[in-house]
Amino acid sequence: VKISNAEPGDRGITITWRNEQGEPSTTAYPYAFLRDNDPEELHPQTRERVFDLTSVTLPIRPESHAVSEDALCVSWPGKASPSTYSSDWLQQYAPGKRRADASVVKRVAWDRQSLGEIPRSNAPHCVADPIALRDALLTLKRYGILLLDSLQDSLDASLVFGDHIGFRRRTNFGKMFEVINLPEPNNLAYTALALPLHTDLPNQEIVPGYQFLHCYRNDVTGGESIFADGLKLCEDLRDEAPEDFELLRSVKVPWRFHDDENDIRSYRPIITLRQDGALDYLVFNAHIADVPDLPADLLDDFYLAYQRFMQRIRDPQYAISTTLRPGEMVIFDNTRVLHSRAAFDPNSGERHLCGYYIERNEVDSRIRVLDRLKC
Ligand SMILES: [Fe+2]
Repeated sequence: VKISNAEPGDRGITITWRNEQGEPSTTAYPYAFLRDNDPEELHPQTRERVFDLTSVTLPIRPESHAVSEDALCVSWPGKASPSTYSSDWLQQYAPGKRRADASVVKRVAWDRQSLGEIPRSNAPHCVADPIALRDALLTLKRYGILLLDSLQDSLDASLVFGDHIGFRRRTNFGKMFEVINLPEPNNLAYTALALPLHTDLPNQEIVPGYQFLHCYRNDVTGGESIFADGLKLCEDLRDEAPEDFELLRSVKVPWRFHDDENDIRSYRPIITLRQDGALDYLVFNAHIADVPDLPADLLDDFYLAYQRFMQRIRDPQYAISTTLRPGEMVIFDNTRVLHSRAAFDPNSGERHLCGYYIERNEVDSRIRVLDRLKC
């Protein structure tokens, strides 16, 4: 696509493009946008903006401009040399056009039947090949869950893998938590009891993003890991019970974890939507839902919707189950996919999992950086 004309107006300049077939199209670029994003006023190493917007008077108009097929040159008041905007730059940053982003994937909502089994990747392959790791992370984002196999037989094998992705999130349970049967547990995960489907730590100001759950030892009777896609659950809820959906989206629930050392609380709805209406966060954890301090007239309706959603979450049509084997690690989006565990017999063997969290934006950042390596 080549530039065929540039027409200055009161507030901006309109570029007319001509594609290979000679068909015209136009894009309007506001002057303030062009001035603030002058490619020459970025730091050469950091690529951060060094231009200070308060150094000019808005609204601003160019003193003159010139165009070629491949660039727009603009002379701005107070600037010694003209600014050059290449046609590639103008195309890439056309106002209103969403920025290209290698980490964006279309999420696929799933239930037991449609997913069949958890998508798998091989850990040594991902470590050896950056593009395999990128693709594994994109699969993780698409389904919200991924099973890695063939990790080394050591407790820190999962940490070594996580270091290839990003920083681990520290919580009150540490930078890593070990899911073992403890004599004095501060969390039901550290018992042999069944855990219903839940998401972790809705009581945190920022809900942990991806959970990495590594199976180090597991030869007990029971203890299957079960997962359900909150994206599918929310889509079905919106279709089949829109009033319940609206209540769970709008009512802020108090969440609280407290022990001898901590009292960590938040208020947030069970369902949080993105600006485009798609699911952003699903949080669900009846164990740490605090006593609701909602008005009485809301409580009755809320409890009905809350119980119906709880029943829906437990519908086996949504659940996929697996027995984690030593050397496997399941990674799942804790803001989307619910997880649970069947009860196990602590006297039948050893069950030792360890877990940690890495935030969603760390994973996105890794995908973008890995994507730069593609040929
Ligand atoms: Fe959990």
